[in-house]
Amino acid sequence: MSTSNCYSHLVPVADDSILGLSTLYQKDPREEKANLTIGIFLDETGKLPLMKAVEIARNRLMARRAPHGYSPITGLPLFNQHIQELVFGATSEAVQSKRIYTAQALGGTGALHVGARFAHLSLGAQVGTASSPTWANHLMILNQAGYKVSQYPYFDPSTKGVDFEAMASCLKTLEPMTVVILHACCHNPTGADLSKEEWQQVLEIVRERNLYPLLDIAYQGFGFGVDEDAYAPRLFADAGIPFMVASSCSKNFGLYGERVGAIHFVTGNAQEADLVRMNLAPQIRGEYSNPPAFGGQVVAEILSDPELRQIWLDEVNGMRSRIRRMRELFAQKGQEAGLDLSFAIRQNGMFSFTGLTGEQMDLLMKDWGVYGVRNGRFCMAGLNDHNVDLVVRAIKGVS
Ligand code: LMR
Repeated sequence: MSTSNCYSHLVPVADDSILGLSTLYQKDPREEKANLTIGIFLDETGKLPLMKAVEIARNRLMARRAPHGYSPITGLPLFNQHIQELVFGATSEAVQSKRIYTAQALGGTGALHVGARFAHLSLGAQVGTASSPTWANHLMILNQAGYKVSQYPYFDPSTKGVDFEAMASCLKTLEPMTVVILHACCHNPTGADLSKEEWQQVLEIVRERNLYPLLDIAYQGFGFGVDEDAYAPRLFADAGIPFMVASSCSKNFGLYGERVGAIHFVTGNAQEADLVRMNLAPQIRGEYSNPPAFGGQVVAEILSDPELRQIWLDEVNGMRSRIRRMRELFAQKGQEAGLDLSFAIRQNGMFSFTGLTGEQMDLLMKDWGVYGVRNGRFCMAGLNDHNVDLVVRAIKGVS
């Protein structure tokens, strides 16, 4: 058989719904434009900042002139320890009793992938579900890991908040060992989060139905605070159920391109956690051998030095405050223009679901130079004092 036409059946595929847009934005020659596409924190001047804590840690690592050796298969132990404590709290019983196994992974995406693949290959999970709507990558990750994929209702367009009743009744129909992706905080794309009471109810359903949650906490620190945003994983860990958490250092450490994240497996005891380690290692080894070292070293340096950690924490708090201020300004400017944009104040984190249609989002881009995701998502961290008027004018123009 000839291989000369082995590519001939391939058909064109559209660019990624999020990553493709930034390229379009960069190419747009207009002076007045706004980039509200990808989930990247931009500062007041519209630039991606280098965090001070990261700069200090980076300089220290450089000064040590360490060679670039391999990391262990499941990552740097010091990084794994600190990132686990950041998610679950250093004094948590689950952390203290060593019943959580944490492996460094390639950003939040890599963490979700490693977790989903492990649950499928080693725990026999066949069905995966994520909210409707969700971050498009959740569905791709589940699909590519071999799951039968579904979505549970989540968003109520009329309130621009969570439709908890619909969500809960759907979760109650799921079969045991369904991998349920839940956004621990700062829901992507809607910005609409569960209340503490609703998390309690989700926990009850998970327990009753024997579901296997995969909590995505990619935006820890951007909702209400580093500890406050970890409410769900801490609640689930205290409840003693088995589940996974995928965390990311892309946003809260500004280490987007370094691909730093972690997958945490919460088990019943230290022996189970060790069995996870043994079974996970060959899966990672066969896929990418071991994670990149530098980003994990930067994070470990920051989190293991109390002074540097405080600098970092202050910066995360500053980023969160900037986004909050932009949400308020956006709503206020909307009011002045006769638009109700108050949903932005009720939603959390980097994103807001505006309720604008795909056609309206196209017009925003074409006629106004305002770039958002076609599903109606704005990255609120791309707003600043200079572009907020343009954005509100543009929304008025397409409404
Ligand atoms: C986003 O949703 O914009 C971010 O999580 C970046 C990405 O990889 O999509």
